[in-house]
Amino acid sequence: MPNLIEGAEALRRSALEALNQVTDEKGLEEFYVTYLAKKGSIPGLMTHMKEAEDKAAFGAAVNKARTEVTAAYEEKKSALGKLTLEKKLAAERIDLTLPPEPMGVGHVNPYRLIIDEVTDIFLEMGYEVCEGRDVETDKFNFELLNVPKDHPSRDMQDTFYFGDDFLLRTQTSAAQAHKMLEMEEKRPIRMIAPGKAYRRDDDDMTHSHQFAQIEGLVVDKNISIAHLKATLELFAKKMFGQKREIRLRSSYFPFTEPSVEVDVSCFNCGGKGCAMCKGTGWIEILGAGMVNPRVLQACGYDPEVYSGFAFGVGVERVAMLRYGIDDIRRFYQNDFRFLKDFPLK
Ligand code: DAH
Repeated sequence: MPNLIEGAEALRRSALEALNQVTDEKGLEEFYVTYLAKKGSIPGLMTHMKEAEDKAAFGAAVNKARTEVTAAYEEKKSALGKLTLEKKLAAERIDLTLPPEPMGVGHVNPYRLIIDEVTDIFLEMGYEVCEGRDVETDKFNFELLNVPKDHPSRDMQDTFYFGDDFLLRTQTSAAQAHKMLEMEEKRPIRMIAPGKAYRRDDDDMTHSHQFAQIEGLVVDKNISIAHLKATLELFAKKMFGQKREIRLRSSYFPFTEPSVEVDVSCFNCGGKGCAMCKGTGWIEILGAGMVNPRVLQACGYDPEVYSGFAFGVGVERVAMLRYGIDDIRRFYQNDFRFLKDFPLK
């Protein structure tokens, strides 16, 4: 029956034509279902075998249709697969010629610059740098420094406690006691201890609950207040300029006796009086004094043999004066526009 054979031929041609029109994988899938799947039209030709007069010729025509269309389908499938991959690769390609995002270089915080500068000055004078610890015990932060539990000066240093005995240190002075106690042989000491200190403080322009201090301690035989004055004068000149002078005003700290507050002649107006020194010609820069014999005693140094001096510098205060910074909180806001205004070392 030539019609059946012709039908198979016609189906073969139209399948190949339809395949030609297929442009994507979805179309190919639909093509497969229509023509080649079990229930597709080409395998479906076999249901007519019974009606075929020349079964061999019809079978051959059906086979030809199936073989050719399957081969063409396979070819198309691999071509489309390649195309999809190429498209995907093209879409995901990274253009290495694009200019990169500019890389910002980090910047040293100005209070760190001051610590480095002060440290260099004291290293030149033969001091060693000691690292204190941020979390202290009541004993080291207060008691060994002649501040017993009920001492009123504790009120000024109200701080952050962890239970009764542990606290965030309120002053780098705690490093003094560590250094003295840690010396097995009680030999002379010349040390500075830069670091952070913490206090529950009024949140205003000049106070912050976290700030930096540099503690200094000298213990030796025959140390007098003349050594303290000469040392701090040298420091003030190196830090604020050769023309600077210092003056000592009497003050009170539990760990020093006598205690002084140290002023430097104003480096803005040279001492004539300006806004920076509030018209006085002097700017307060640190607290100091002769180490209280009770502190020496508590830390294992015989006050009959040894004497010493100590001082504590408020780092942000110095940085604010040096760089004309109006608000202490700026040091801790990590604003790069602020940080990058300071010289890199
Ligand atoms: N610890 C004092 C404070 O936090 C600063 C200070 C004053 C340290 C006098 C000293 C000193 O070593 O002798 O305010």
